[in-house]
Amino acid sequence: MTYATISVTPLTPRIGAVVSGINLAEPLTEAQLEDINRAITEHLVIFFRDQDQLDPVSLKRVGHYFGDLQRHALKGLSEEHPEVRKLHADENSKNVSGEVWHTDMSCVESPPMGSILYLHTIPPIGGDTIFASMYAAYDHLSDRMKNYLEGLTATHDGMLAFGRFDPEGKYPKAVHPVITQHPETSRKVINVNRGFTSHINELGMDESRFVLDYLYQHIENQYFHVRFRWQAHSVAFWDNRCTQHLAIWDYFPQVRSGFRVQIENSTRQHHD
Ligand code: SIN
Repeated sequence: MTYATISVTPLTPRIGAVVSGINLAEPLTEAQLEDINRAITEHLVIFFRDQDQLDPVSLKRVGHYFGDLQRHALKGLSEEHPEVRKLHADENSKNVSGEVWHTDMSCVESPPMGSILYLHTIPPIGGDTIFASMYAAYDHLSDRMKNYLEGLTATHDGMLAFGRFDPEGKYPKAVHPVITQHPETSRKVINVNRGFTSHINELGMDESRFVLDYLYQHIENQYFHVRFRWQAHSVAFWDNRCTQHLAIWDYFPQVRSGFRVQIENSTRQHHD
């Protein structure tokens, strides 16, 4: 199906598409926002190239079209832009964000609906991001396994994800169902991730470890993935409710740098 205002080129049958014909640094029209919404619903993560006019103000404006912006557990870019998070890796980095499979901020009661990441500086080679469809991962479980997982809950602990940046920090913890339903499509997804999930609450520790390890291995099946090769000034916009992602840090000591915003889950609506 064609779109009224943008071109959308799928990268795989299950997840990921490149969107062209739009400048995100300019105010967007209602028709453009409807098309972007539709592209995310259909492709789960969408990518934009050549967005070299984006800055923190215009990135916040793009995010705000889709809902209120959510502050990250880690420090914001500046006092002026606390909702914008800087992402930067170079020869001094000991860790980078996202180097373990995760959904963003699943350690809070209401994790973000989505995130928009802009990279202005990329290494000469490497630094790809892989996204996985949690719809595809759920759909490929057997009915017996789906039934087994239904009704279980898991604890998601911010210390697991962020403790390596600052072990003294205080981070949120939250409990979520292991299987959730996307609020807009009603499709079911697997909702545990290596980055944040510490254990399944209704199981003993050994059982929990085995079940989580099985699910993580299943989620990492490449048939559910798209791998995005960044260029300078590319943007990725993902639906955090039905995807996980992994940032590959294979470019040390090169520089990879940009910033991102997260959108609250309460609504996905167009704000003026
Ligand atoms: C993240 O996990 O949010 C970072 C993704 C990336 O750097 O590609």
